Amino acid sequence: MLTQLREFIQKISRLFSPSLAIENERILELMHQYKLFECSLENLYYFHQSHYTRNLIFKNEFFEILILCWEPGQKTPIHDHEGQHCCMTVLRGTIESKNYVYVKSIDFKGDLTPLLQETYNRGDVSYIDDEIGIHQLENPAINNRRACTLHVYYKPIVGCLSYDLETKTAKKVSLVYNRIIGQRDTHRIAQEISFLV
Ligand SMILES: [Fe+2]
Repeated sequence: MLTQLREFIQKISRLFSPSLAIENERILELMHQYKLFECSLENLYYFHQSHYTRNLIFKNEFFEILILCWEPGQKTPIHDHEGQHCCMTVLRGTIESKNYVYVKSIDFKGDLTPLLQETYNRGDVSYIDDEIGIHQLENPAINNRRACTLHVYYKPIVGCLSYDLETKTAKKVSLVYNRIIGQRDTHRIAQEISFLV
């Protein structure tokens, strides 16, 4: 139900009052409370055979909400979050997160210290920032089913560091939206504004 998603976005927006410090827990609580994985959001899902997709649902100067859609086996590079915060909930399927200790680009020599690997199923929530670590998200091919995740980034992330363990390089990459579903106006949430891919 898009109504629930709209309400969720409105509640998140209220958390970003300039006079309030953001509490990550409040966003995770709202993700729990709204059980977005039970909503019929299929119309907002967009998959691509070549890569996972980043689909913008809402954005203002304080935060952005994206739905990421994953075919089996699709994954991100290992990446940081450019000093921003990320809350995630799984709408469909299962996502694995391989976590590593954060390393600045200049200090990256090709090795990363692994942290605990985590598996998230439908309805699970998680939080990450650079202090906690960097990670690679993947929809494991072995599951042979699609996955969808909803992410709240604050502030919006325009680029990140991408780490390559094979070439032993870390480079800044720009992040794109594969599909823009909603922008500042939550009433336009169900309306596809444009396709970037
Ligand atoms: Fe991430």
